[in-house]
Amino acid sequence: MCGIVGYTGPQQAAPVLLEGLKKLEYRGYDSAGVAVNERGGIHMVKSAGMIRNLCEKTHDGSVFSGTSGIGHTRWATHGAPTDENAHPHVSNDGRFAVIHNGIIENYLALREELSGKGFTFKSETDTEVIVNLLELYYEGDFKQAMLKTIARLEGSYAIGAVCADRPGEVFAARQFSPLILGLGVGENFLASDVTALVAYTKNVIYLDDGELAELSPAGVTVYDCTGRPIDKPVSRVTWDVEAAAKGGFEHFMLKEIIEQPRALKATIDPRIKDGRVVLDDFRLSDEELKNLHKIYITACGSAYYAGQAGKYVIEALARVPVETDIASELRYRDPIIDEHTLMIVISQSGETADTIAALREAKARGAKTLAICNVVGSTIARLADTVIYTWAGPEIAVATTKGYTTQVAVLNLLAVYLARRLGRIDDDEERRLVGELNKLPQQMQRAIDLNPGLEDIANSYFQNREMFFIGRNLDYAVCLESSLKLKEISYIHSDAFAAGELKHGPIALIEPGRLVVAVACHERLFDKTMSNIKEVKARGAEVLGVAMEGNSRILVEADKAIYVPRCEPLFTAVPAIVPMQLFAYYVAKANGCDIDKPKNLAKSVTVE
Ligand code: F6R
Repeated sequence: MCGIVGYTGPQQAAPVLLEGLKKLEYRGYDSAGVAVNERGGIHMVKSAGMIRNLCEKTHDGSVFSGTSGIGHTRWATHGAPTDENAHPHVSNDGRFAVIHNGIIENYLALREELSGKGFTFKSETDTEVIVNLLELYYEGDFKQAMLKTIARLEGSYAIGAVCADRPGEVFAARQFSPLILGLGVGENFLASDVTALVAYTKNVIYLDDGELAELSPAGVTVYDCTGRPIDKPVSRVTWDVEAAAKGGFEHFMLKEIIEQPRALKATIDPRIKDGRVVLDDFRLSDEELKNLHKIYITACGSAYYAGQAGKYVIEALARVPVETDIASELRYRDPIIDEHTLMIVISQSGETADTIAALREAKARGAKTLAICNVVGSTIARLADTVIYTWAGPEIAVATTKGYTTQVAVLNLLAVYLARRLGRIDDDEERRLVGELNKLPQQMQRAIDLNPGLEDIANSYFQNREMFFIGRNLDYAVCLESSLKLKEISYIHSDAFAAGELKHGPIALIEPGRLVVAVACHERLFDKTMSNIKEVKARGAEVLGVAMEGNSRILVEADKAIYVPRCEPLFTAVPAIVPMQLFAYYVAKANGCDIDKPKNLAKSVTVE
C-alpha cells in the first residue's frame, strides 16, 4: 500500500528517489510524485500512472537540482488515481511537502477545522490535512510542528516531510505503517521497506509506532512522541541488491517461482539438526504446551490459504485442534482465545494491517503468539512472542509464490516439531518425516521441471472466462490458493470448491466446455475425487487433472493432466502448488496481463 522514500545527502536527490520508487512500485502503482527542496522552495512533480510516467515527465529526475527530498508511489484509498491526488502534497503556503502511507481516520473533522481557518484543499486525499496542519503549527521549528501535527492524527501513517526553510532536513513519523531509516555515510534515507535501500546501505533503523525521526546528511535522530531523543538499535539487512532484481527473467513472478527450491532449502535446512526439527525460537515450555487447548491460525489471502494447508498437517500429526480464520474477520468477532491458545499469524510482509490487528487482539486475550514471517524487523515479527522466519528473500511480484510455499514448509516443520514435543510421534517417525522434509527442495525443483508442456496447456485454455478448481483435504487447500493465483493475475473469474461439496450447489455452474481443474494428489482420496471428476464430465466440463507423478489413471476421466513429484502425502501442498502457479502465470501471460503488478492490487496491504 503506497511506497514512500526520502533522501538527504550530497547526491542529487531526485534520481535517488526515483530509483527507490521503482523498487517500491509493487506496493502501489497508480500514480507517483517527487518533491525536492530546491533553492529555498519546494519543487514538486507528480504524475498519474506508473513510475515510468514520472521518470519521463522529470527526465529521470534531471529537472530537479536539490539534494534532499521525498517521493511516493500510490495505491489509491481516498480519491481516484489522478495527478491532483498523487503525493506529495504541499501546504497552502507552499512551505511544506508531505508523503504518506496509511489512512487518517479523522481527516474529515480535521479538514473541516482547517477549512474553518481558511485553508483550501486541492485533492480528495486524507493526506492534505497533514501538510496543512504542519503549516498551521509552524512557528519556525520544524520538529515542533511535526510533533503537534502527529498528535492530532488518528489512524495509520508513515510520513515523510520536508520544509522549504530547512534544506537538507527530512522528517519521518510512524504509526501502524512500516517505515525504515537507512544510514549511509554522509547521506541518510527513509523508505517503506528495505528493497528501496539495499542499493545504498545495509544499516537500518526500524521506527516504532509513535516515533519521529529527523534526518540530515550528518545523521539521524529518533524522538518519542514527546520529542525526547531515544536510542534505537541499528540492524543489518541481509538481502542484497541482486536478490531484489529481475535477473534476466521476464517477470519477477516467474523468477520467484523458479527460486522456490532455494527458498525452501534456506527455510528448512537451518531447522533440521541430527534428524530432528529444531526450532530454537519456539519458547513454549512443556507445561505450556501440555496446557494448550487449541491452535488458531490467522492471516490474509494466500497466507491464510497457507494456514489452511497447515491446519491439516498440524491436526494430523500433533493432534491439537486447529481453527483457521481470516484476520479481517477474526479481529471483529469476539473470538474464543485465552492463555491456552497458541495463535499463529502468517504474513510474508509482516505489515498486513488486519493480521497485525488480529495479533494484537490475541495478545490482549492472553494467547501465546507465534509469527511466520518473511521480513526481519517487520511489525508482526516484532510484536509476536516468537518468530519463525521464512527465508524466502525479497518477494517483489504482487502475487506471492515463494512466500506461500515457504510458509507451508514452516507449518510442516512446526507440525513435526509439535508432534514430537507432545509425544504424538516416536523418534523413528520423526526421523522419517524429517527425511521427507529434507527432500522438499529437490521435489520443488522436480515440480518445476516435470511439466514442460504447461505453457501449451495454459495456452489452450487462456480464453476461458471462468474456471473452477476442485479437490479434497490438502488438495482443497491447494485449490484455494490456485484459484486466487489465477484470478489475481489473469482477471479470469475462478472459484475453488471442496470436491465433495459440488453436488450441494456449485455443480449448477458446470456447463459444456467449462474448465474444471481437479487436484487429486492426495492419493488416499484419489478415487473420491475421481468420482467428482466423473460428475462434472457428465455435465460436459473440460477437466485438467493434477495428480502424482506416475498416476496416469487420472487420464481415465481427465482430458489433460499435470503431474506433481511424489512426496510425503502430508506435505503435498508444497510441490502441488508449483504447476498451479505456473499455470496461472502462463494463462495471464497469454492474456497479456501485467503479471507483476495486477490491477487494483498492492503487495503489502497496510490499511484495513
Ligand atoms: C496473493 C497475495 C495476498 C497476500 C495477503 C497477505 O498472491 O499475495 O493474498 O498473501 O495480502 O499478505 P502478507 O503475507 O504480506 O500478510
